[in-house]
Amino acid sequence: MPQTVQGVIARAKGAPVELVDVVVPDPGPGEAVVKVEACGVCHTDLHYREGGINDDFPFLLGHEAAGVVETVGEGVTQVAPGDFVILNWRAVCGQCRACLKGKPWYCFNTHNATQKMTLTDGTELSPALGIGAFVEKTLVAAGQCTKVDPDAEAAAVGLLGCGVMAGFGAAVNTGGVQRGDSVAVIGCGGVGNAAIAGARTVGATTIIAVDVDDRKLERAKALGATHTVNSKDTDPVEAIRALTGGHGADVVVEAVGRPETYEQAFYARDLAGTVVLVGVPTPDQQVTLPMIEIFGRGGALKSSWYGDCLPSRDFPMLVDLYRQGRFDLDAFVTEKVGLGDVEAAFEKMHGGDVLRSVVVL
Ligand SMILES: NC(=O)c1ccc[n+]([C@@H]2O[C@H](COP(=O)([O-])OP(=O)(O)OC[C@H]3O[C@@H](n4cnc5c(N)ncnc54)[C@H](O)[C@@H]3O)[C@@H](O)[C@H]2O)c1
Ligand SMILES: [Zn+2]
Ligand SMILES: [Zn+2]
Repeated sequence: MPQTVQGVIARAKGAPVELVDVVVPDPGPGEAVVKVEACGVCHTDLHYREGGINDDFPFLLGHEAAGVVETVGEGVTQVAPGDFVILNWRAVCGQCRACLKGKPWYCFNTHNATQKMTLTDGTELSPALGIGAFVEKTLVAAGQCTKVDPDAEAAAVGLLGCGVMAGFGAAVNTGGVQRGDSVAVIGCGGVGNAAIAGARTVGATTIIAVDVDDRKLERAKALGATHTVNSKDTDPVEAIRALTGGHGADVVVEAVGRPETYEQAFYARDLAGTVVLVGVPTPDQQVTLPMIEIFGRGGALKSSWYGDCLPSRDFPMLVDLYRQGRFDLDAFVTEKVGLGDVEAAFEKMHGGDVLRSVVVL
């Protein structure tokens, strides 16, 4: 029997989100229904609401979640009812050309549920990043569920479902940060601060946090930044060079998604260094760079989708580090709120003092 539950949708571009009844079908073959316990509010949810991703309104928002599997459909073997899982938005297919090349974190054919969740009048909902988790129960592809230690707190580990994994992986997986490296991170929201925490975890020795908000820089310090730069009053490229012997950082992570911050990242890296773009740009944004600089600086200009993570490999590992006190996921949970507070959480995102508001159900 389909179930009717409460969920948060964005009905139209720019319109405030609404808490409405959502119809969740029983899981079909390869699908699972998950009772959501916690879901973080990510900037990408706001991008959806602002029409910055696509026009497939109405969206069922939320995608950074942990919960308990309630039911599974035919043929599902990797998870079972009662399993505590983190949801991921890149369930690898195992069969596309990236998977067959042994690089499943690039999978070009990731899976979502086949059936649609709807409004009570039958209108199909587009779940954010194929998840949709600001809702009491959600329907996903079973491969989007990664089983982890049930003793971990849902509000904290749910963040691994998107922003924290994206940031950690941008530094560690995509950027390949290693012991002794210098790293600069531009934009210290949930994603950027996770990149900082990741750089510390793997032993980077100089970790420079850049933001326009001093409160974010304070949090960055607590998570592992060795230096902070407020780029409102200081040229970040000059500052990063000055802190790295005049050279620039080995790896610069751009976690804002804007042309000016991407250019800063480009010029703030050392020769043969790596720039990682993890911030998501909008379709209209452009950068202009001298080709001679692209050539002459060498190194790599990379993008990071979901921190190039492999949920089955990375989620349990990060939950272990969290449980051992070696990766402070709790520091990312600034506040716990209810399903009705998503719009207020969007406003706080602009207010500056919040790494993550987490909806707890
Ligand atoms: N690539 C991925 O897989 C992935 C996954 C999740 C999120 N993201 C993207 O990462 C970006 C950051 O997400 P978030 O949730 O941390 O957002 P956020 O709003 O919490 O953080 C953004 C930070 O950037 C800072 N900032 C804004 N303008 C700046 C500037 N000009 N210079 C320096 N800092 C500036 C803000 O003060 C804020 O601290 C977004 O674009 C989001 O869509 C990407
Ligand atoms: Zn694949
Ligand atoms: Zn996200």
